[in-house]
Amino acid sequence: MRRVLAGVLATSVLAGLVAIAAQASPRAAAADEPVVVVSSTFDDGTAQGWTGRASEVVEPSTAVAHSGTHSLAVTGRTAGWQGPALSILDKAQKGVRYELSVWVRLAAGQAATSAGLSVERHTAGTPSYDQVVGSTAVTADGWVNLKGTYTLAADVDFLTTYVEAAGATASLHIDDFSMSYTPLPPIQTDIPSVKDVLADHFTVGAAVENAQILNNHGQLLAKHFNSITPGNQLKWDATEPAEGTFRFADADALVDWAKANGSTVRGHTLVWHQQTPAWVFKDAAGNDLTATPESKALVLARLDAHIRAVVGHYGADIPVWDVVNEVIDENQSDGLRRSKWFELTGLDYLRTAFRVAREVAPDARLVINDYNTNVPSKRDKLYDLVVQLRAEGVPIDAVGHQMHINVQWPSVAETEAMLTKFAPLGIDQQITEMDISVYTDNSQSYPTPPREVLLTQAYRYRDMFELYKRYSDDVSSVTLWGLADDGTWLDSFPVTRKDHPLLFDTRLQAKDAYWGVVDPSRIGQTTTTTTTTTTTTTTTTTTTTTTTTVPPSTCAVAYTIGSQWQGGFQGEVRITNRGTAAVNPWTLAWSFADGQRITQLWGGVHTQDGASVTVRHAAWNSTLPPGGSVSFGFLGSWTGANAKPNSFSLNGVACQS
Ligand code: XIL
Repeated sequence: MRRVLAGVLATSVLAGLVAIAAQASPRAAAADEPVVVVSSTFDDGTAQGWTGRASEVVEPSTAVAHSGTHSLAVTGRTAGWQGPALSILDKAQKGVRYELSVWVRLAAGQAATSAGLSVERHTAGTPSYDQVVGSTAVTADGWVNLKGTYTLAADVDFLTTYVEAAGATASLHIDDFSMSYTPLPPIQTDIPSVKDVLADHFTVGAAVENAQILNNHGQLLAKHFNSITPGNQLKWDATEPAEGTFRFADADALVDWAKANGSTVRGHTLVWHQQTPAWVFKDAAGNDLTATPESKALVLARLDAHIRAVVGHYGADIPVWDVVNEVIDENQSDGLRRSKWFELTGLDYLRTAFRVAREVAPDARLVINDYNTNVPSKRDKLYDLVVQLRAEGVPIDAVGHQMHINVQWPSVAETEAMLTKFAPLGIDQQITEMDISVYTDNSQSYPTPPREVLLTQAYRYRDMFELYKRYSDDVSSVTLWGLADDGTWLDSFPVTRKDHPLLFDTRLQAKDAYWGVVDPSRIGQTTTTTTTTTTTTTTTTTTTTTTTTVPPSTCAVAYTIGSQWQGGFQGEVRITNRGTAAVNPWTLAWSFADGQRITQLWGGVHTQDGASVTVRHAAWNSTLPPGGSVSFGFLGSWTGANAKPNSFSLNGVACQS
């Protein structure tokens, strides 16, 4: 339920606009309860502070309304960027994550187009545009909700949120805009710091955006990590958006934070096939460069100048650089990605990048970074390239393994093979972007991740960090691609859905995954939620601690019904070994309550006697490794309610379900 701060509300209804943030500090509000800072309904027949971005006209309208009587009509647009805008300068506080939501509909008779929601901010007169919701289809036939989050991370002297539409002249309506935030509970200060637990092995880092060095996020970052990687701020599109125009403000803020907090910085990344501005591969007339000796000389000169400027700007403040990122394509016989860089320069962009980086920062550690390096064909192609370039004298000091993995893939053995492949080269290795998606394919989406999946994730973190520790002579740092589950690139990659891949949850509290790294004996045993509630009227503070203790169990079973139709259904069962020893062979037993009968089963061998079912492993999946899982599926018939069985036993011992 949304809540507004009643005491303040009475005095701050301004032309129908509820404006309370300036008066009410977010930290004074109760944790976990959304607080509405702005709400625009237009039902009082005014524009409630909204204006056009240029000369377009905004006015209240009763032609359509998402709720109530009015919407805001926007007419007279002449460019895609034009649309309704609202100043939120005195509403938004730095470091607070706001949810912005607005309903959009085209005016009657307008052709379908797309619309987005953004924020324009100015620092010292320089504008920046932050996308809140990307291009979304809109029509004149119904309302579409644009909803996203925004955290202000810089000091600004101008801040508006606005709706724009690709159709340059499209007239549109907006309604029911709201801006709200949910206060976070304090971070847990009574748990071990990840960086201390791993201090004897390697540095531990997190990729961060500028908002994550502020408030609770900044505290969590400082407590647990001694390395940070700017998630986007050092990429080419951020540092040199136009030729010779360099922008370092965002990355500088992160580097300054690192210095002040005893953290090191990994520079990411100087050369990549993504997030590189178009001008890099165009001639002076704006035409695409083609593979000629002149083009090659031009892009190598641009690369040289870029690296000199960026690496030179930071000097000793950034002692490690991902010089090149994702240059391998194992599907090419030569293993080299067909990027523009490669097409225009062959291998020379790699040679130039490392040579210039070494020249400018002789003491920096220079890394070649890539994903899926646990896949043998890719790993081997990367290895061959590293060997070849080093033999030529190209100064590659380290191999970066991104380690974007998931709860099932890859195995620890494959990951170990990744490390052992490079170990004989005596080259440093770094884990640069680790996260563990809760999803194993693009069709899955959990509103809240099942406990069993989070436990599997915790065991995966345990096992991977155990592996890294065993190789700590070879591995100098381990970085996670994000700080907490409220900020992960996997929410929009490879599809849009909420993912939960990190050590801390969306409220910045330690997950089982955290315990997997810090103290695996505590995985699944204790979940502590601490909520601090401060009421503005009484200014008293109440702290509530909830402790849930789950009895240790060696196995967990997830039984899901994938689909169900008249008389039939498809089921899936996943068994997870929570113990520390492998289970081999395995037999799972349960009893059906509703007369279900298994007609066909794969991934195991079943027998059914009345309601009692026994499933024995198949020839190829007899081992359930510690922390690992096996699944089998089946088709069955059902009557009654097709209730799920509620108890299972593995080799005669009861499991959690
Ligand atoms: C991601 C960032 O986290 C996102 O914010 C951005 O939109 C896309 O890039 N491999 C990399 C990183 O090397 O640079 C990517 O970072 C994630 C995949």
